[in-house]
Amino acid sequence: MLAHYYQEPDIQDIADYIGDSLGLAQQAATTDAQVIVFAGVHFMAETAKILNPDKLVLLPDLAAGCSLADSCPPEAFAAFKAQHPEHVVVSYINCTAEIKAMSDIICTSSNAVKLVNQIPAGQPIIFAPDRNLGRYVMQQTGRELLLWDGSCIVHETFSERKLVELKVANPTAEIIAHPECEPAVLQHADFIGSTTALLKHSQSSPKEAFIVVTEAGIIHQMEKAMPQKRFIPAPPLNQCACNECPHMRLNTLEKLYWAMRRRSPEITLPPHIQQAALKPIQKMLDMSKI
Ligand code: 13P
Ligand code: SF4
Repeated sequence: MLAHYYQEPDIQDIADYIGDSLGLAQQAATTDAQVIVFAGVHFMAETAKILNPDKLVLLPDLAAGCSLADSCPPEAFAAFKAQHPEHVVVSYINCTAEIKAMSDIICTSSNAVKLVNQIPAGQPIIFAPDRNLGRYVMQQTGRELLLWDGSCIVHETFSERKLVELKVANPTAEIIAHPECEPAVLQHADFIGSTTALLKHSQSSPKEAFIVVTEAGIIHQMEKAMPQKRFIPAPPLNQCACNECPHMRLNTLEKLYWAMRRRSPEITLPPHIQQAALKPIQKMLDMSKI
């Protein structure tokens, strides 16, 4: 049972492995289990299936999608790519298998900078689908990237004004943020990284309090690992639970139980998409080791 940090705490507590998108893909690539039940969203389970075409990959709720993946429809992306034939396509793992099949390299939030840095200077690059992660990678690498205009509904919802107010009320707290957030929010961050990087940073930092600017599920692991520290979820624009991903949260303990009991719903993909999408994922796994 593989689970992402954005799952509800009850699910996190029973997973065999819990991690960020890269860790989950690496785990899926090496497991010898014959059945993988994925407590995460569709593109993550799809990645596990692409890496394990002969295994049964289950997702408790097939409707657990991703606004970022939805913001990059395959037909529109194919037309965009055709307009820039000289570009290498680097796609964030938060995209559909069809987009992966049209990509040269897949990346995650934890290795995007490292992978783009490995592409020879002067090689034009399309970066899809997250414009915020793309802008962050541009800033970190000094490379010009042609960005697809997609974003995540959860990370775009954080309010800069409320974040600053929270910092004023908690002046010693460190602001730690995910690179899917908008630049206006990221400019206030003391540390930027993937969910695993945020967790590790909060462990190694001498600070006692953190304002966490990402989906609130990760706070469960932070509080478990560091009960003596204080973790404050960053405020969304309204008094809603918008810092919880509505797609991730479609999975419940009950649906997970029934998925394992019934061995359904299963992830299936057309073989040609599966084969084409494997290459850029494999490339990511290989480039991550360098
Ligand atoms: P990471 O798992 O790379 O931290 O990305 C977070 C995310 O948005 C997953 O959907
Ligand atoms: Fe997609 Fe955002 Fe949810 Fe991650 S948090 S699964 S990027 S909608």
